[in-house]
Amino acid sequence: MHTTAFVGKDGLLGEIVRIQGEQAVLQVYEDTTGLSIGEEVISHGRPLTVRLGPGLLSAVFDGIQRPLELLRLKTGDFIKKGISFDVLHDRTWEFIPGVKGGDAIEAGDIIGIVRENERIEHRILVPPGRRGIVREVRRGNITGNEPVVIMEDRSAISLYHDWPVRSPRPFKEKLTPDVPFLTGQRIFDTLFPVADGGTAIVPGGFGTGKTIVEQTLARFAKSDIIVYVGCGERGNEMTEILTDFPKLLDPSTGLPLSLRTVLIVNTSNMPVAAREASIFIGATVAEYFRDMGYRVALMTDSISRWAEALREISSRMEEMPGEEGYPPYLATRLGNFYERAGKVKCLGNQNRTGSVTIISAVSPPGGDFSEPVTQASLRVAGTLWALDTDLAYRRHFPAVDWNKSFSLYYNSLKDWFSKEVAEDAVSLRDNIMSILEREGELKEIVQVIGLEALQDVDRLTMETGRIIKEVFLRQSVFNEADAFCTMEKQYWMMKGIIAFYNRAKDALGRGAYLGKIIESPQTAKLMRMQDIPSDKFKERAVEMIREMDAGLGGIALGEGKT
Ligand SMILES: Nc1ncnc2c1ncn2[C@@H]1O[C@H](COP(=O)(O)OP(=O)(O)O)[C@@H](O)[C@H]1O
Ligand SMILES: [Mg+2]
Repeated sequence: MHTTAFVGKDGLLGEIVRIQGEQAVLQVYEDTTGLSIGEEVISHGRPLTVRLGPGLLSAVFDGIQRPLELLRLKTGDFIKKGISFDVLHDRTWEFIPGVKGGDAIEAGDIIGIVRENERIEHRILVPPGRRGIVREVRRGNITGNEPVVIMEDRSAISLYHDWPVRSPRPFKEKLTPDVPFLTGQRIFDTLFPVADGGTAIVPGGFGTGKTIVEQTLARFAKSDIIVYVGCGERGNEMTEILTDFPKLLDPSTGLPLSLRTVLIVNTSNMPVAAREASIFIGATVAEYFRDMGYRVALMTDSISRWAEALREISSRMEEMPGEEGYPPYLATRLGNFYERAGKVKCLGNQNRTGSVTIISAVSPPGGDFSEPVTQASLRVAGTLWALDTDLAYRRHFPAVDWNKSFSLYYNSLKDWFSKEVAEDAVSLRDNIMSILEREGELKEIVQVIGLEALQDVDRLTMETGRIIKEVFLRQSVFNEADAFCTMEKQYWMMKGIIAFYNRAKDALGRGAYLGKIIESPQTAKLMRMQDIPSDKFKERAVEMIREMDAGLGGIALGEGKT
């Protein structure tokens, strides 16, 4: 089972998916037009593997790790069938060794580095399962699979090794996810954070902003490496990714984002088996960089297209269908993928940690979350960012529904927020959440009894809820000053909003008129907070709160309403 083979005279890549007595069923990863009865099948005797080593970054691969750029050069725009050449093998790299003759090395140890580009150092690792004493080390230009280290037992280690895509790569120990994966997006970082090494799913109907979320995170999130799996969305969307991605600049360095990105792209016209395999190829590549000690973000857009590929394969094999035609093992297979996330202590003696954080877009038909793929994803995800069609329609972006979304990591991240942001960061967040909740309840009451019947303090809560939504939750990727929001700015924005709420409540208590508070210059200033850049924010927020003390206090004394 799961052994790969060359099929027919074109040597198409296939995988054995079922064995029944004397019969083996093969799934071919490529277009099978023209294949005829009696053609030869040659088994490789090993499962589908991915080749790992320098050259992965900046490259674009299809679902079975054929580099698209190279394919185009070799065969023109149409991918010809069955071409196989050693992926990653035609380049020369300068190897800088980190070990010497006589050293004892084991799996996961760094034996040297290759400067893959001006941004990322590719750490060459002893592959899993290997150990021994170094006999000889090479330095300088290394081409293809030439050995860089020869061991006492004469076995060699090269810059490359292969790994079966469906087997998680080994590590020493899984660590508790207690640090957030920061994205610079307020609704994610402050309200529903995903942990570094955790999983988040982003379900949403068409046009709700899934792709924008994935791309915004690719640009701004605090990760070293991005593995982006474009999975079977329509062909022109993938073309967009292929043309847009290389143009994106890394906001932290100004260098192209592609220097730390691996793109794996399947369009819907590529064979379904390759699409099904592609997320596992992505996971393996992500784990490989994790093992070097990097923080890796693994993004898929969208996992629903992957599930459709799984459904199609299953129906071709005439398996018993489960809910909505998906095979009964949909949830298990999805679990196998999400399990590949985690923060780990890496193999080897150098005491590194690395992480894979998975962010998956889900595209439920009609935006209906009750369908099987969203439900199966919900069972394994630690964070849910639920995108809402109404919000997107009203152009409230990111269109994240704050009532439906959740983070199961929040409790284990609280310490980090208290220590690294501020002691009251957690209580401010709780305040913001409860105002939003109360606002939701009040909205329902208002529908029954009308706004006039509400007490001023409740109307203030509704007003504050509106400010939170407009100023804090809304965040446009097109606003330069606000596209990325530091934790410090997020904190001081909350501080400003809660300061306003408390001072306005006090003023009401002293008999002030609510309308005057809402129309005050202090409120207007609060509404423009987004446009203050992160680096100037704290200073301006402190000043703003001071003005509130003077301004809102003044209203209470001068203009009581009787
Ligand atoms: N965070 C955002 N800020 C501003 N506009 C957004 C944001 N997210 C989505 N949009 C708008 O919504 C449109 C659709 O988003 P997209 O990510 O392509 O949706 P999906 O992938 O869910 O179909 C975008 O072209 C953009 O105009
Ligand atoms: Mg999309």
